Amino acid sequence: MTNNQINSGEVIYQVYPKSFLDTNQDGIGDLKGIIQKLDYIQELGVTTIWLNPIFSSPHVDNGYDVSDYYTIDPQYGSMELVELLIEEAHKRGLKILFDLVLNHTSSKHKWFQEALKGPDNPYRDYYIWKEEEQKGKLPNNWKSFFGGSVWEKESETGDYYFHLFDKEMPDLNWQNELVRKEMIQIAKFWLEKGIDGYRLDAFIHMEKEPGYPDARYADPGQLVSAEEFFANLPQVDDYLREFSASIREDYPDAYLLGEAASADPERAVKYTFPKGEACDSIVSFKYFPMDTTKKDDRFPLENQEGKLDIIAFKQVMDEWQRKVGEVSEMTLYLNNHDMQRVVSRLGDPTEFREESAKTLATTMYLQRGLPVLLNGEEIGMKNLELKRWENTRIERIHEVYATLLDRGVTKEEAQTHLGSISINASRGAMQWSDQIYAGFSTVEPWSGVNREAAYNVAAQETDTASILTFYKQLIQLKKTALFTHGSYEMLVSKSPIMAYRRQLEKEQAIVISNLSDEPQESLLDLTDFMEQDSTLSVGNYQYNNGKIVLSPYASLVIKSDYKGS
Ligand code: GLC
Ligand code: CA
Repeated sequence: MTNNQINSGEVIYQVYPKSFLDTNQDGIGDLKGIIQKLDYIQELGVTTIWLNPIFSSPHVDNGYDVSDYYTIDPQYGSMELVELLIEEAHKRGLKILFDLVLNHTSSKHKWFQEALKGPDNPYRDYYIWKEEEQKGKLPNNWKSFFGGSVWEKESETGDYYFHLFDKEMPDLNWQNELVRKEMIQIAKFWLEKGIDGYRLDAFIHMEKEPGYPDARYADPGQLVSAEEFFANLPQVDDYLREFSASIREDYPDAYLLGEAASADPERAVKYTFPKGEACDSIVSFKYFPMDTTKKDDRFPLENQEGKLDIIAFKQVMDEWQRKVGEVSEMTLYLNNHDMQRVVSRLGDPTEFREESAKTLATTMYLQRGLPVLLNGEEIGMKNLELKRWENTRIERIHEVYATLLDRGVTKEEAQTHLGSISINASRGAMQWSDQIYAGFSTVEPWSGVNREAAYNVAAQETDTASILTFYKQLIQLKKTALFTHGSYEMLVSKSPIMAYRRQLEKEQAIVISNLSDEPQESLLDLTDFMEQDSTLSVGNYQYNNGKIVLSPYASLVIKSDYKGS
């Protein structure tokens, strides 16, 4: 079945502004840097840029703690510069999505500063408060995403306020109609400036279980991440629809990309259907089932995810394609700023870096849906090697490091491991060249940077076999009708080879890839395809008597005429 209405044909490029390009040599990426690189972004072939938050912020959480939604953080630039950015992007046919934080503000936001003045202040009810019932006892046992309780005691009244993330990021009270109106007003302000839509941050948390009950399964005194009480509650859908409807009254084409980390296919449908009434598309973090038996026992096991469980991954993709891909535009992505870099997490950053980067991208993006790339992915950037230890959100990092060295792990291996578990794994500075600080800045970047001779834009731009050149070809192919609007059929097999067929009118293609680091054989019937030349290929393969053997991380895209009806 095909539905030509639901797929936009867009390809999104996520720019993490803080790590993209620094033009005033303070170690922090900025708007001028993004403007300078618009030609580069355009040449990639992407159609839309999503910028992580650039509003004024104390940067407790890199801008996800907004202190003023109506101004640009001075470390990034000014209103004039953002207007220029929008104009210059549009000149090049690029759309811009801003990142809108709906669930919480910074504690430095004027609403919270007012709310702190006491229970009678008109802004008190913009946030979530609970009186202390018993001295020293927290209102419940829910754990915050950033560690510790979700409740923080405020010194004046002794009341607690609620925060799902850092204690400097108090949650807004979405039951309050004024809050909902403020957010709509903010959203319209920037749409009026010309942006094309939003990525909606953490919207699935806008409603909490009334009464804030304890999670009963927790041991006494223990805090637990009780998501069933604060994620995907029914009210969320109402708030989202109200928000979306108000926005689209004035801006019918505004694109809404929702972050719904824990959404399963059913919820994804709820948040995206029917078209134009909620989000256009959502990002779920549930795409990548990991095989936890594949851990490296030299490193703390609780910190490791294991390796991609390829068979389970194929099932997950198949399920999403059928349940979501048929009714709305599903996102196709491999990493983002909250996850490890794809070659480190799902591929092989040492032996098969080139092959795994190219094949994972081919496999993911040629499916039906909306590609969302993270800057740096197109040159095969790996996780940041952790040399600076501030703001990594790793508990007792010095102890972890010392233990690793005691176990005979080398310094470099320890840095790689710490990089993989750090919040900044994928937030290393963009690698533009092999100059000092990888051409990102002439001073040390805020996050640190990997400087690598072969993995930078300058080295790859002129190399026809590079990951960058491959990504450009892949994006062009993705934008053709067959791959945006064609039907999708997973070709089932039990091997670590993933294969699917796309078809549109008289054209069809097969995408077949080996997602493992060993050669793999497939018994799929490929007779319709193997006589044709491949459109894209990675690594080597052998085809004999109807059997194909793909080398590690090899892949093929082959088109042929479709003769069925
Ligand atoms: C989202 C963002 C993440 C941030 C959090 C709080 O999950 O992607 O980076 O920390 O929301 O705003
Ligand atoms: Ca700067």
